[in-house]
This record gives sequence, C-alpha cells and structure tokens, in this order.
Amino acid sequence: MSINVIVGGQWGDEGKGKIVDLLSKEASVVARYQGGSNAGHTVYHNDKKIVLHQIPTGILRQNSTCILGKGMVVDPDGIVEEIECLNNNKIDYSNRIIIDYYAHIVTPLHKLIDQINEEKSGAKIGTTCKGIGPTYQDKYQRIGIRAIDLLDLSLLKDKLEKRIKIALDRNEISSDDLLNVNLTDYYNSCTIINSFIQDSFPILFNKNVGNILIEGAQGTLLDIDHGTFPYVTSSNCSSGGISTGLGIPGNKLDNIIGIFKAYVTRVGGGPFPTELFDDNGKKLQSIGKELGATTGRVRRCGWFDIVAAKYSASINGLTGIALTKLDILDNFETIYVCTHYEFRNKKITELSSVLNYLDEVIPVYKQFKGWNCSIEEASSFDDLPKEAKVYIEFLSVKIGVPIEIISIGPKRHQILNLQ
Ligand code: IMP
Repeated sequence: MSINVIVGGQWGDEGKGKIVDLLSKEASVVARYQGGSNAGHTVYHNDKKIVLHQIPTGILRQNSTCILGKGMVVDPDGIVEEIECLNNNKIDYSNRIIIDYYAHIVTPLHKLIDQINEEKSGAKIGTTCKGIGPTYQDKYQRIGIRAIDLLDLSLLKDKLEKRIKIALDRNEISSDDLLNVNLTDYYNSCTIINSFIQDSFPILFNKNVGNILIEGAQGTLLDIDHGTFPYVTSSNCSSGGISTGLGIPGNKLDNIIGIFKAYVTRVGGGPFPTELFDDNGKKLQSIGKELGATTGRVRRCGWFDIVAAKYSASINGLTGIALTKLDILDNFETIYVCTHYEFRNKKITELSSVLNYLDEVIPVYKQFKGWNCSIEEASSFDDLPKEAKVYIEFLSVKIGVPIEIISIGPKRHQILNLQ
C-alpha cells in the first residue's frame, strides 16, 4: 500500500486533473482534502472533455472509491450537476463517492455573501464566487453546517434559517438579496447527495485498503498560510493541508508530486512577477487555451518562475515533479525562465523574504533557445528535441527535484513517464 499525493505547485490550473487521472489507474482510493467547487479539473474521457469541480478525478477509473474529505467545503448543488455529467457520460459512480460526515457545506447564502463581498471590496481578490471563503469563515467561527447535518433535513433547515438570520443581523446580506436565493432546489440537492455522506476514517485508515492517491486543488501560491496573501484561497492547498483535511499525518505520505505548468498562469487578482503583457503573453494564453475551467475568466500568463517553484518544492516536501503543457512552448523562438528577482538593489533567490512585496520585485531571466517543432507525438524523453531536454533539465536542477512526468498534450496518451 502506498499513499501518493498530487499538489499544485503554482497558482492552480497546472493540469492536475490529467495527472490524477494517470496515477489513479493504480489507486483504490482517490481523496481530496481541501477547497470545493472553486477547483476545475479538466480530463479527457473517451476523447470527451470532462470538467470536475469537487468529485475527485479518480471517478473516471472504475477501480477507485472517491472521498471528499472533511477539510473540503462541499456544495450540494454542484455535486448534483457533476453527477448529471457522470450520468451523461455513462460513468458508473455507484458506491464510489463518499462525502465525509464532517466536511463543511456550502449553501446559497455563502455564495451570495461571497458575491456581495467581492462587489463591495475595494481590492478585489477575484474569487470564484462559489462561497468558499464564507463557508470556511463559518467553520472557524464554529457556526458552520456540516455534511452530517444533511442526514436530518429538519435540522439542516433549522441551522440554515438561523444562519440566514445572523447574516441579516450582521448586514452581510439584505432581505432583498434573499429574493434571488432558491432554497427549494438546494434542499432537493441535499436530499440527492444524502446517500454519499459517511465516515471516511474506516476507509482511509484500513491497512488493506490498497493505494491511496490524494488530490490537491488550487496551488501552493494560493495557500492561505503560504501563498500570496490576501490574494489566496481560504484553505491549505499545499501538502500540509492533508494532515488536517484528511487526518493523514505527513509521515505516512510516500510520494508528493508537484504539478507545474511549463510556464505560469494565474486567474484573479494578486501579484505575479513573471506576468507578460506583450505578444508572448497573448500567445501563451491563446495556444494554451488559458481560460478558467470554473469561471471562464482569461488567465494571466507568464514565464516559468524558479524562485516560486523552489519555494513550492520546500513547502510541500516534493519528491517529484510533473511538468505539464510543455507542447504549448513548441512555437517560441526564445523561452525565458526567471532565475531570481531584484528587489531594492538586492538579488533575491528565496520567495518567502519578498512574499509581501511581490508586486515590486523585478524578475531576472535566463534565455533558452526554443525547439520550434511539435513534440505532441513524442513517446519518450529521448524523442524530445535537444532544446526541450535542456529546458527540462535546467528546471529540474534549479528546483532540486526530479521531473518524473511530462505532459505534451491534452489526450491521455500524450504523457512521458521518465521513471
Ligand atoms: P476562491 O477560492 O473562490 O475564494 O478565490 C480566491 C482566489 O483563488 C481567486 O484569485 C481565484 O481566482 C483563485 N482560485 C480559486 N480556485 C482556483 C483554481 O482552482 N484555480 C486557479 N485559481 C483559483
């Protein structure tokens, strides 16, 4: 039995879905530990694009049970939509989805508060408006609603009505705002997902369970404690979140694979040192089809950032890297990598020292010759052009973690396993 982990190494959208899909072949359990429907994991199943937001990507492989762990904030309406998508694609999910008793639950009220907070805010975070922050806020205020509460509909209604009253008393919402809230549909969704709600402990801690794959959402730089605060999400996306979100202690984790795009993207507000505002940025955006899987927003694009990647490797204890979307760089004459920053006349190689001043740092780049040909059909590392190998080896050496997997296209077979 092994426990392997997949975490986002950048600001999310690194292509985790495809790597989870690959590694879940060998897993009996695939579990998520944080976040909720703010995530959007895109995978191709029988050549059809499927986007999952909350149900772990392992659901596409018949061998795995999928757990939505207690550190998640689960949106019942969203789960119902995902189940419809599974039905439409004839994916059998019976007895394969478990929502932990103690996961917190997003309600339409939380989405409304998220939206109102964003509209009112001077410095917009650019949240997904999926109710993530307000639901975690209720958890830490100890007034949250948990999945186990859904097992008794009258208790759930009572809790939600009380929470709505608190929201009105605190002016978080107005009574007019409530006109747009449809609780009947919401309670229907809660009833539909009822049969998934269970205690996940006996599965996660069963010595005979087989291999467990843990699926992170978002990315390390969006982590509430280690990211670019306040432009972060409200959970611990880095591997540290696993100990609390699933209860699995760090010393039980065998491999921690960080997913990094071969360049960098960010969606929403916040600093981004290597962001490009020129034609190269537009080219990465259009070739990489960089549109948010959850909100459809255009993603900001930039060159690979070694300073940030090294930080991410340390915070997560990475044992390996999966480099994704390398093929998007196929048609660049020159490719740049940020090796360090300059900040107030000093050379900066550690992200933590400038985390609060990231919008002031100046990225310093090393240039690489592009390979200028398609790598989409390569079947091994050796098949790659010399320039691509130089690029990959440079990243691996500088980050100090082996690159074990390289994704060279959206399809399942477009993957190079270097191990
Ligand atoms: P929230 O998680 O909806 O509260 O949004 C907080 C910040 O995290 C915003 O900048 C979002 O754009 C970003 N974010 C949340 N989820 C994802 C994701 O799955 N990928 C990329 N960015 C995300």
